[in-house]
Amino acid sequence: MTTIGPSDPPFSNSGSDKVNIGQYFNQSGEIVDCWLDHLMPPVDVDPPIIHEAMRYSLFAGGKRLRPILAMATGELFGVSEEDLLPAACTLEMIHTYSLIHDDLPAMDDDDLRRGMPTCHVRYGEAIAILAGDALLTQAFITLSTTPIKDPLIRIALLRELSTASGTINALIGGQVLDLTSEGKRVSGAELEMIHRAKTGALIRCAVRMGALIGGASSRELTALTTYGEKIGLAFQIADDLLDETATTAQLGKTAGKDAATKKATYTSLYGLDGAQQLARRVVEEAHASLHQLDLDITRLEAIARFIIDRQS
Ligand code: IPE
Ligand code: IPE
Ligand code: MG
Ligand code: MG
Ligand code: MG
Repeated sequence: MTTIGPSDPPFSNSGSDKVNIGQYFNQSGEIVDCWLDHLMPPVDVDPPIIHEAMRYSLFAGGKRLRPILAMATGELFGVSEEDLLPAACTLEMIHTYSLIHDDLPAMDDDDLRRGMPTCHVRYGEAIAILAGDALLTQAFITLSTTPIKDPLIRIALLRELSTASGTINALIGGQVLDLTSEGKRVSGAELEMIHRAKTGALIRCAVRMGALIGGASSRELTALTTYGEKIGLAFQIADDLLDETATTAQLGKTAGKDAATKKATYTSLYGLDGAQQLARRVVEEAHASLHQLDLDITRLEAIARFIIDRQS
């Protein structure tokens, strides 16, 4: 087989081996980082400042949850590293762009991200805005040139990623609602909609991209989509909880920001216990959806659990 990208460390995560989830994240995260490095323009290409800023935020750390979810889902269907990783990495490019913009003074105004000064603190606001724009654009350059042979799958992936990044029940729409809800009392239904959009849409997309590359049947895609929606919501509930319960050092971003800026969060609406119970219930629902599948769901179950048990 022609090697079209990194395969060192080896891509050997398939199967139901009982690698613990922390180890799985570390190993898969290394594979993601190798591919991201391969897919991103080198720093010395003109104009170097933008490539440096893009790489600064991308390689500052991060759990790599979204590409890992795409990988774990694709692995259920035996997809190759070459087919899976370029598409999986586009999710991290979009996610990192959303973080750079989320941290801007006009948005959440944060100066710490992934344990480092935020992109605008390090490079200034103009370059940070452009670095976000550039990561968003790079995601679509990458996806449109993925080696996946079937053009219908490539188009389906482009539709998934662009829709999840857009304005309708999707990332940008959710960010708008998040900002316009500051200081307001929102209903449970409104809050769920914000969380599903600003964070859930891209996580749902990660699972669906893995399933689409794997050639999932429509029944499998439906069950996996529900799983993706549930863990997407659980992930943002956990993020709200961690903002109140974890330290800045643990998170690598400023703790306690949501209360200070009067954000609409699960903890502000339901309290710590209420939010925790809801997160657990949503993860149980995610597990129930997986149980409809005749596939080895061990790893996806563990990822769902990790999403609410994590400390950062
Ligand atoms: C933080 O996402 C922003 C949200 C969508 C809640 P992550 O917690 O996945 O951040 P990194 O990628 O690990 O830094
Ligand atoms: C961000 O939500 C969601 C994005 C689309 C980036 P938050 O504003 O809660 O994320 P953090 O807490 O700053 O990471
Ligand atoms: Mg925000
Ligand atoms: Mg924020
Ligand atoms: Mg948050």
